[in-house]
Amino acid sequence: MKNLKQVDPEIAEIIKLEQERQQRNIELIASENFVSEAVMEAAGSCLTNKYAEGYPDNRYYGGCEIIDRAEKLAIDRAKELFGAEHVNVQPHSGSQANQAVYFAMVPPGGKILAMDLTHGGHLTHGSPVNISGKYYDFIHYGVTKEEEIIDYDQVELLAQEYKPDLIVAGASAYPRVINFNRFKEIADRYGALFMVDMAHIAGLVAAGLHPNPVAVADFVTTTNHKTLRGTRGGMILCKEEYGKKIDKAIFPGIQGGPLMHIIAAKAVALKEALSEDFKDYQQQILNNAHILAETLQGYGLRLVSGGTDNHLMLVDLNNMQLTGKEVEIALDKVGITVNKNTIPFEKRSPFITSGIRIGTPAVTTRGMKEEEMKKIGEFIYKTMKNIDNEDKLEEIRDMVYELSAQF
Ligand SMILES: Cc1ncc(COP(=O)(O)O)c(C=O)c1O
Repeated sequence: MKNLKQVDPEIAEIIKLEQERQQRNIELIASENFVSEAVMEAAGSCLTNKYAEGYPDNRYYGGCEIIDRAEKLAIDRAKELFGAEHVNVQPHSGSQANQAVYFAMVPPGGKILAMDLTHGGHLTHGSPVNISGKYYDFIHYGVTKEEEIIDYDQVELLAQEYKPDLIVAGASAYPRVINFNRFKEIADRYGALFMVDMAHIAGLVAAGLHPNPVAVADFVTTTNHKTLRGTRGGMILCKEEYGKKIDKAIFPGIQGGPLMHIIAAKAVALKEALSEDFKDYQQQILNNAHILAETLQGYGLRLVSGGTDNHLMLVDLNNMQLTGKEVEIALDKVGITVNKNTIPFEKRSPFITSGIRIGTPAVTTRGMKEEEMKKIGEFIYKTMKNIDNEDKLEEIRDMVYELSAQF
């Protein structure tokens, strides 16, 4: 950072402070992770200088013969990792990946069936404030009231009634395994295309620890930066027959030049994801989530759906007489980072919420294991119980920093 310090000391200082924050705090945001030094080197490389509109061997700019190799490597590795027929690695983000599938396959005003945001879906699954909700006619399914798992019967009824062009499975805050086969049967029965947004669970899928949607879905979108532990960005995996349409939807449809430094970094992260170590890492994410969930439940906290099968859990704070906002702020004070989150059948606004979402990918990357999860569970519970006691919160913060410093 020698040059940065000289040219722009303010930004250099911000990066230094943020690095310290990331090291000092315990990161439990389910969608975040820490990339390797190798991934960061690729992301911070001279590949950022190159314009490469188009696709490998078919660009609108000269001088692409070298960076073409990076994009081809990223594509080949993603195909190998997930068993996909066609891959587009250019989406700048998960949102763009989703938008491109809609744009390619659904006419404006067409019908799409997806998961409700408050039940765990994502903004890009038809929220009225997102472009998806403005350009398409979304219908939403949710989870059952009793078990809080996806209501597949409701999905079927809605598909029968509305005959959507596309059915979307996948979520931002759903702690259970998703039954892609059931979705596919419904999509086939009512003549809909089927898309899976596996942004959150891509790393688990890569490691064979969650069913792989690639064989059953027509389109699979993902981010690279959650459990998959790459740089920020997205990808689309699809059947060969849709490859051209998808590529056109990304460029020239909704994006211009691809971010070649980020595509190179995606390739590096995908190589890491193909290793045996990565499988162990994903298994540890699951073990950690399981123990953390058990610990929180041991303190009497209620988890949506009664637990977790994946990397995240949703804590319902209603029986603690607390809101998501209050708990997020209190945990921030003690150096634990989570996000407030709506829970199914939410009664509060998205700015307040009745829940928090907790995930284990980032702490697992730091090397934390079951024993640390028990301690973190205790810190979270004690923070909630002492939410107005600044002295107590300070004590907890010291313990959080002490634990964090060991990793
Ligand atoms: C399920 C799901 N899809 C898409 C996205 C969007 O990804 P991005 O933030 O890269 O646009 C997210 C991000 O949180 C997500 O959870």
